[in-house]
This record gives sequence, structure tokens and C-alpha cells, in this order.
Amino acid sequence: MVIGLGYVELPLAREASLSGLRVVGYDLNEEIVAGLNSGRSHVGDIPSADVAEMLAKGFRATAAETEAGDPETIVICVPTPLSADSTPDLTAVSAATETAGRLLRPGMLVLLESTTYPGTTDEIVRPLLEKISGLTVGVDFSLAFSPERIDPGNPDFGLRNTPKVVGGQTTSCAERFYGKLCDQVIRARSTREAEMAKLLENTYRHVNIALVNEMAVFCHELGIDLWDAIRCAATKPFGFQAFHPGPGVGGHCIPIDPNYLGYKVRTLGYPFRFVELAQEINCRMPGYVVERAVELLNGAAKALNGARVLLLGVTNKKDVADQRESPVKVIGGKLRARGADLVYHDPHVAQWSAGGEPTRRADDLDAELAAADLVILLQDHQVGVRPGPDLPHCPPGPRHPWTSRRIEYREAVSKRGLWPRCGTSPLGAGPEPAASRVRAAAHPHRGC
Ligand SMILES: NC(=O)c1ccc[n+]([C@@H]2O[C@H](COP(=O)([O-])OP(=O)(O)OC[C@H]3O[C@@H](n4cnc5c(N)ncnc54)[C@H](O)[C@@H]3O)[C@@H](O)[C@H]2O)c1
Repeated sequence: MVIGLGYVELPLAREASLSGLRVVGYDLNEEIVAGLNSGRSHVGDIPSADVAEMLAKGFRATAAETEAGDPETIVICVPTPLSADSTPDLTAVSAATETAGRLLRPGMLVLLESTTYPGTTDEIVRPLLEKISGLTVGVDFSLAFSPERIDPGNPDFGLRNTPKVVGGQTTSCAERFYGKLCDQVIRARSTREAEMAKLLENTYRHVNIALVNEMAVFCHELGIDLWDAIRCAATKPFGFQAFHPGPGVGGHCIPIDPNYLGYKVRTLGYPFRFVELAQEINCRMPGYVVERAVELLNGAAKALNGARVLLLGVTNKKDVADQRESPVKVIGGKLRARGADLVYHDPHVAQWSAGGEPTRRADDLDAELAAADLVILLQDHQVGVRPGPDLPHCPPGPRHPWTSRRIEYREAVSKRGLWPRCGTSPLGAGPEPAASRVRAAAHPHRGC
């Protein structure tokens, strides 16, 4: 049984189902449940055809825990957002654990996959399960934590070929379970190390993105093309991993998860300064993009107020439809507040609003590129993909009929002569060459 049928658990339910396990999915969202039961996927990486195949193999979704049947294993992966004061909000984890507790029987395995601070499985999940069921972990049932490492939109790595870390007091059952779904299972010393591993991965990205974002700001003023410097540094075959500057961080992980770790560190009486600094720098980026937009327009003797600004890509990550925590929302709101006439283009997003108002969608990219005073490349989706033998790398995800040509945004912009260097982004680049048209660009780093 999987609890939560979102971006993370639907791929797991698919893998389990296709591996021959009988899977029931439980989700509070009745629309999602009804959609899945009628063969409709709501997750970009999972085509509806896969849901149909899952159904044929016995998968069913339910919004009633009484219809869960008699599961041997329960996997929990529900949201772990922040509360209003930026502290961890474990409401969904607790509610899902209560559901698991009510279904718990001797011999069962419970797995938590939600990203959370070290200690959650042992301090929150375990006592709740034991209290509700009257059973004891390690004696009557097994409990483990396994961080989810799904990377939506990644055509190379999925659940099966990404090593799965798992840690628990009773890890062998969990290892056996994941061994059916993944090629490699890595045993952590305990639940805490497994929980920490995920936060280490995400904090590492958060901090490194902040590092290049800060560099982007001063490299621009120093007249240094940071993208070229990164390209050169990345040729070193050891000791360096390339991160690229962007307009902020998006997705459900990078802007949120390091706060979970910061929260845990603060319980010790001191701050986690790296995380706080990274947060501060990354949160400044949307405002910086707007300032650069003003500067670019000014260079062309134009004001932002009244300028036609075309935003390319509004999701939180390349080639996915997910908009959660997308910094583009903040940028759009700021541009609109300063009087910009906004238009957006995104093959994955049919409707989009900024600053609380709907934004016009560009149907004809060439015409909009020609009409815009400023083009801001925010997410370099491969657009206009139509699956076919000539497009072997066609990314997965929903597509709209109005994007029927294969053209990359950066290519599109450079074709119009609006781009200083094809294949590079001027965010963090040196001084802008004089041009009649204004251009700016920013790439969010890959999200979750
Ligand atoms: N999305 C990613 O790329 C990603 C990657 C790695 C880790 N994670 C982590 O995985 C967790 C889940 O993220 P997601 O992106 O799958 O979220 P999601 O919002 O896509 O899906 C979560 C689902 O859980 C359901 N739900 C909430 N409370 C419930 C409850 N008590 N009982 C049953 N269902 C409930 C919601 O209706 C929703 O459908 C989070 O901790 C997130 O940080 C996400």
C-alpha cells in the first residue's frame, strides 16, 4: 500500500505494480483517485498508458483507508511543507502515520519516504504507530526510512536505476522490498543517517547554487562571463561539479528541505549558517533578475513600465509541468507590479498567472519574440517536441498542440538575433553587447 499518490509515490506504485506486486494507492485527494482509477495520470513522468497497465495488473486507488485490504507493506510519502514560521509542518506525515497505525498487523513493514529532518522516523512515526496499534517495532513490525530520490523529467535516471538508501532498526525486510524495485539498495546505519543523507544531498545543491548565484552577480559587474568560467572549470575530471546560476530555486525540495535541517540544528542552540546564507542569496535572485531587466531596457532607452516582456518557461524545472515554488511566479509578480506587459510561453503550462492576474499565453513564439521588448529565458525547456523517429531524445511530459516544432528556447532567441551568444546565458555574463533589442536570461538550476 502506498500512502500519497503524488510525484514520488506514483512512480513507486508503477514500479511495484509492474514488478508483480499487488498495489493499492491511498490518497485523500478524491480527484486524483478517480482519475487514476479511470486510467488518467496526473504526474508528468507517468503516461496514462502506464496507469492503464497498472490497473490491468490489479492496481487500484482509494480515498478510503477501510478499502486498503490487508497490506504487507505500507510506504508513506506525503508532503513535508513549511509552516507559516518556516518550521517543519509534519501534519501530513502524522496523519498518514495514523492511517498506517490503524492498518498495522504483526509482521508488517512500514516505510517512510517523505523528506524530513533526522529523527522523524524514530521520534514521531514510531511512537505514533506503536501507540495506535499496540504493537512494538522490531518485535511485531518493521520500520525504516528511505529517502525518495526521484528526479522528475530526468530521462536517464528513474526509481529502478537510482541507488536506494534505506535505514531502520530492522532493515532486512526493507532491503528485500526495495530490492524488487531498484537495482541497488544501500544500507544506512539507522533511520537518522538515511534521513540525513537526503538532507545532505539537497543542502549541497542549495549551497552550491547559492555560490554560483552570488558569483553571477559580481561577475556581471566585473565583466566576466561566469558561464564560460563554469564551462572551463567543468573540464577538470575530478574535484569539481558544475552548478549554474539561475533566477532562484524552485520545486518541492531545494527551497524547503534545508529548512528542515536548519530547524533540527537550531534545537541544539545554534544556527546552520550555510543554509541561512544560501537561503538569503537564492531568495534575492528573483529581485536581481528584475533589476537586470530594468537595466537592459534602460540600455535600449525603454522603461519597464509598459514594456512587452516575454517570459520563456515558467515551471520550476526544465521539461516538467511542476510549478511549485517556482521563482518565476515571484519574478512575474514583480515585473507586473512595475507595469510590464507580460506574455509567457511554456509548452507544459496551459494557463499561468502572475501578481494575482492571468497572464496571456504566447501561441506563436516567433511572432511574440519579434514583438517583445524584452525576452527572459527562465527555463530552457526543449519545446515543440513531437515524438517521432527523428526525435530520439523527446522528453516526457504533457505537450500542447501549439508547440509542434522542435526548437530550443535558446536557439529560438538567438535565431531572432536577440541573443548575444548562442548556447550561453547572459545571467552572470559580462557586459551586454549593445543591441537594438533587449535580452536577458536566467536558468533555474534543476529542481527536485
Ligand atoms: N516531487 C519531487 O520531485 C520529490 C523528490 C524527492 C522527494 N520528495 C519528497 O516527497 C514527499 C512527497 O512529495 P510529492 O512531490 O510526491 O508530493 P505531492 O504533493 O505530489 O503528493 C503528495 C500526495 O499525498 C497526498 N496526501 C497528503 N496527505 C495525505 C494523507 N494524510 N493520506 C493520504 N494521502 C495524503 C496528497 O493528496 C498528494 O496527492 C515530500 O516530502 C517531498 O519533499 C519530492
